[in-house]
Formats: sequence, C-alpha cells, structure tokens
Amino acid sequence: MPCIEQNVSLQPYSCLALPSTAAYFCRCQTEQDVLDALAWAKERGIEVSLLGGGSNALLEDHIDALVIKLELQGRKLLDENEQGKLIRAAAGESWHEFVLWTLEQGWPGLENLSLIPGTVGAAPIQNIGAYGVEVGDLISSVHGFDLLDGSRFELSAKQCAFDYRDSVFKQQDQARYLISAVDFFLPNTHSLSLHYPALADYLAPLKESGADISATDIAHAVIAVRNSKLPAPEMIPNLGSFFKNPVVDAKTQQRLINKWPDLVSYALEDGRFKLAAGWLIDKAGWKGREYGGVRMHDQQALVLSNPKRQTLAAVLACATQVSTDIQAMFDVELEREPQLLKRIKL
Ligand code: EPU
Repeated sequence: MPCIEQNVSLQPYSCLALPSTAAYFCRCQTEQDVLDALAWAKERGIEVSLLGGGSNALLEDHIDALVIKLELQGRKLLDENEQGKLIRAAAGESWHEFVLWTLEQGWPGLENLSLIPGTVGAAPIQNIGAYGVEVGDLISSVHGFDLLDGSRFELSAKQCAFDYRDSVFKQQDQARYLISAVDFFLPNTHSLSLHYPALADYLAPLKESGADISATDIAHAVIAVRNSKLPAPEMIPNLGSFFKNPVVDAKTQQRLINKWPDLVSYALEDGRFKLAAGWLIDKAGWKGREYGGVRMHDQQALVLSNPKRQTLAAVLACATQVSTDIQAMFDVELEREPQLLKRIKL
C-alpha cells in the first residue's frame, strides 16, 4: 500500500510553480500501488486526480481529492524485426531521459522530441510534438486502466485518435484513463527530419563540413535550439507553449497577410493555415510583458512564465488578457494548451 499523506503542497510538482495543496497525496511506483490507491479512494468516496510530470497541468489552489503521482518506472525492447523495434516504457519515466536512452541504444526516431519536459505517460495525452515530429506517429499502443470500471485497456495508435496536440485522452471523460505504459514502434526505415528552419540553420555548418548527420546530432541541435528560446522550468517556472497555434481558413489567412505581410503561417494539406501564435502575441506587444506578476517570455512570446509563483487565478487572468487582445487585434481565437487537473469520482 503506498503511503497516503494529507495536505501536501503540490508546488514542487508544478512546472509553473503554482501554489496548490492536495487534500490527499501518494506516489505510485508499481501497478499494484495504483490499484491499492484507487481502492483506498473508492472505499472513502474520495475523488482521484492523476499527476505526471506537472508540465501540462494547471493546479487549483486546493485540490479536494487523492492526487496520485504516477512514478511507474521501466523501459525495454519488446521485439525487433526487419521493420523496426518495439519498445515499451512505463508512464513515470522522464520523457527526455527515455529519448536519450533510445538514442544511446542506437534506435533513432524520437530525437526531434528531445528535452520536452514531462513523463512518458503524458506524451500521448496531448500528442507532444516539436521540430516537425509528433509522438503519435511513433506510438504503437497505449496501456492503462479505465478508472470507472477498473479494467485494463490497450488502445492502438488509431484508437488514440492523435491530432495536433490532441488525442482521445484529452477529450471529455479523459480523467477516466490512467496511462501505465506506452509502446513505441521505431521503424528501421526512419529518415531524419531536419527541415524545420531553426534546426536546419543550427546544423548547416556540420552539413557543409560534409559530415553525415546522425540522430544524436539532431538531438543536440534540438536541445541547443530549445535552450535558446524556452526557459528551463527549474529556473523560470513555465509549461512551454501556453497556447496552441490557431488553425484558420484561407480567407482569414489572406485577410491577415494583407494587413500584416510579415505574418508567420504554414499551409496545411486541407487548405487551411496554421498561424504562429508566438508571432501574434509578439505583434500584440506581449513579448516580455507582465500582467499581475505573470509574464509572457522575452525569447518566445508563446511561453507564459510565472517567475513570482502566482496562483492559478493570476495565470488565467494574464492568459485571458492575452487572448482578448489577440481576438481584438486579429479576430483570431487562441486555445489554451495546458489542461486543468481533472478529478474523477470512482
Ligand atoms: N515568433 C515570433 N515571436 C515570438 C515567438 C515566435 O515572431 O515571440 C515566430 C517565430 O519567429 C517563428 C514562429 O513564430 O517564425 C514560430 O515560432 P517557433 O519556431 O518558436 O515555434 P512555435 O510554433 O512557437 C511550436 C510548438 C512547440 C515546439 C516548436 C518547435 C506549439 C503550440 N508549439 O512552437 O512546442 O517546440 O513549435 O517545433 O505547437 C510546446 O508545445 O510546449 C512546445 C514548446
């Protein structure tokens, strides 16, 4: 049985350093710990919340629930054939450590996703992505428990319905799914993806020297580029991008580009356009601007930072000001990326 503590501060587990207390809190290192903790909560009629690395969760000041911190560990090669490698990692593994481990084994595939904060179990929920790669493309299946009936589930990548920063786990009743492990398929035919401008620029000297670029070179480039723009949460509390890049129809994109010829946008296959939210926020004068102690980052306006460790209310107030300004200036709606920590009654 995991040790259940009362009135525990969650601030150390929040990458945004939100002041928050959990009525009950426990760490689960094994699947049996998880089952015991769930049974404990069910017996007492106490709601349950699930916490991974705290890098995508918005925590309220007081959480009247049993907050379960998922710390399940383990990673292994499950199978290998001519097509590629099937690898399993437990939900509580650090995402970045896991990526580095795959590269050390000589298994390329995840290098563009280096240094993304959070855990393996959180990766499929919002289909983490960076520098032209989304994790959903490399996931084979996701394992876990359905909290409502206690059954185990295994969802194929298709059933996970991965989309831009979205999946089945993010939808309405997502709180019912506890992810315990993720299986990845890294194909042998994997081709390195270095078309993203910031990466290409960083790697240009190496390429010009005639050297063969490896997956590890890409990981190093991603780490350097991320470090130059995104503050480390341990130094300046933040969750990475706070808003999604909005997708608009061609007419809207045309209207915007007529007025702002330097607008940064990317054409999608379906004829719509993805706008760089960082550009919009920057253009609206929010880069490096503070509101109620919460600040839009100096190097990347899409990153909301909480240097003064303000409450969730202050964070949401700043975010609302930003999106109201974007709406007024561009008539474009910004959607938040991080999610409020959900509670579920068992
Ligand atoms: N830009 C500005 N001003 C800014 C910030 C950005 O003009 O203050 C412009 C940049 O010059 C660039 C464009 O906006 O032309 C896009 O910026 P960037 O290349 O930094 O990427 P992004 O679209 O802001 C997305 C992801 C990141 C991911 C990077 C790299 C989203 C919401 N964000 O950011 O993901 O690392 O691309 O692939 O899709 C995250 O989700 O937490 C995250 C960090």
